[in-house]
Amino acid sequence: MSEEALLKINGHEYTLPVTVGSEDEIGIDIQKLRAQSKCITLDPGYGNTGSCESAITFIDGEKGILRYRGIPIEELALKSNFIEVAYLLIWGELPNKAERESFSNQLTEHALLHENLKHHFEGFPGSAHPMAILSAMINALSCYHDDFTCPNSEETLETASAKLISKIRTIAAFSFKMFRGEPFRYPDPKRQYVSNLLHMMFSLPHKRYDASPVITRALDTILTLHADHEQNCSTSTVRMVASSGANLFSSISSGVCSLWGPLHGGANMAVIDMLEKIHQGGLDISKCVEMAKNKDSGFRLMGFGHRVYKNYDPRAKILKGICDEVFDELKIDQDPLLDIARKLEEAALEDSYFKDRNLYPNVDFYSGIILRAIGIPTNMFTVLFAIGRLPGWIAHWRELYLSGDKRISRPRQIYTGHTERSYTPMEER
Ligand code: ACO
Repeated sequence: MSEEALLKINGHEYTLPVTVGSEDEIGIDIQKLRAQSKCITLDPGYGNTGSCESAITFIDGEKGILRYRGIPIEELALKSNFIEVAYLLIWGELPNKAERESFSNQLTEHALLHENLKHHFEGFPGSAHPMAILSAMINALSCYHDDFTCPNSEETLETASAKLISKIRTIAAFSFKMFRGEPFRYPDPKRQYVSNLLHMMFSLPHKRYDASPVITRALDTILTLHADHEQNCSTSTVRMVASSGANLFSSISSGVCSLWGPLHGGANMAVIDMLEKIHQGGLDISKCVEMAKNKDSGFRLMGFGHRVYKNYDPRAKILKGICDEVFDELKIDQDPLLDIARKLEEAALEDSYFKDRNLYPNVDFYSGIILRAIGIPTNMFTVLFAIGRLPGWIAHWRELYLSGDKRISRPRQIYTGHTERSYTPMEER
C-alpha cells in the first residue's frame, strides 16, 4: 500500500503522508498542506474529513458493522448491559468482577443531586423542553463539583464519570416529573441503573413502579445501542469544545445541545411526529414515499438514511426484534404507528430512489415506537438518547485529554464575501 499521496496544484507537486488505521482505513494527512502550498481542503459537513485518530468505536457503513472497542454491537446487545458497556467504552476493556462492583457502587453513591440543585428546576417553565433542562443542569453540575471539572488523574476521572452517568439519570427523571406536575422520586439504592431510572420516572408516593424484566432489558439495550457512534455531530461537538480546554461537564452539556437537533438525536421524536401525521391524516403510504422523494415537498422520511451507513443500520435491526418482544410483553396486538412504520420501510426498501441512494432505516426508526409503548412521552426520547450516548462522550473526552493534544479545533474557510471596500457614510447609503 502506498505510504504517501501526491497532490498537484498550480504546477507544483506536494507529497502528503498517509495514515492507515487498524481496519485499513486510509487517511491522507494534510496537516502541513497549508503551510507548504497555501491551499486548504473544502469539505462542508466533514463527510470526507477525519478530525482525529480514535481507538473507541469502529463503523463500516458499507457493510453495516458497528464495534465498541472491537466487540460487535450484536454481541454486546445480547450478552452485556449498559453499565458494563459504559465501562468498556471509557476504560477500553470489559470490567472484571471487582471493577464492575466498584463502578456500580460509585453509581449508587452519586445518584443524588445536591439539594440546592433541585431549586434550579423551579426556574424552568412547566413547558420547558427536557433537553434544554438537561444541558443547563449538566452545566450547573460544574458549579457543585468544581473539583471534578478538569479531572487530572484516572481516579478523579472515574469519579467524575460515575457522577455524570448517575446524575444524568436523576436530572432526566426530575425533569420528567416536573413536566408531569408530580413530586420528585429519589433514587433507590437497591435498584439497578435502568430499573432506577424507570422508578424515578414512574413511581408515585402512593404507587411503586416496577417494570418487568423484558421492559427493563429493552431500555437497557436501547441505551447500549446508543452508547457511542464515533465522530457523529454531538461527539465531535464534545471533542471540539474540549479542545479549547473547557471542562468535562461543559463539554458534555454542549454535546446534549448538539444531539437535540432533528437531523441527529431529535430524529426519534420526528419519526413519531411523522407517523402520527400519517395516521391522523389517513395518508397513503405510497404517496408519502413519493413526497419524500420530491425535494420541493419539504418532507423527508425521518429515521431513514445515515451519513455513514450505506446499508441497514445494525442497531435498527436489533431494535426491530426488541420492538416485537416489547409489544408481546405489553400484550399490544395492534399499534397503528408500528403498522405504518413497517409499511413505510417495506415501500421505501423496494423503491429505486431509496435503493440507489442506499437509504435504510437508522437507529431512530424503531426506537421511538418502543419508547412510546413503554409509556415514555415523545419529548423525553432524545433525553434517553443522551443518557445512552453519555459514556461515548466521556470516552472521547478522555481520549482527547490523554492524547496530550493541546491544539484547539479551529477549521478554516474559503472566504466568498466582498473584497476590500471603503466605509460608506450614513448620508450616502
Ligand atoms: N428521506 C428522503 N431522502 C433522503 C433522506 C430521507 N430520510 N435522507 C437522505 N435523502 C436523500 C437526500 O435528499 C440526497 O438526495 P440527492 O443525492 O438526490 O441530493 C441523498 O439522499 C443523500 O442525502 P444527504 O442529505 O446528502 O445525506 P447526509 O449524509 O448529509 O444526511 C441524514 C444524513 C441527515 C441522516 C439524512 O439521511 C436525513 O436527513 N435523514 C432523516 C433524519 C434522520 O433520520 N436522522 C437521524 C440520523 S441517525 C442519528 O443521528 C442517530
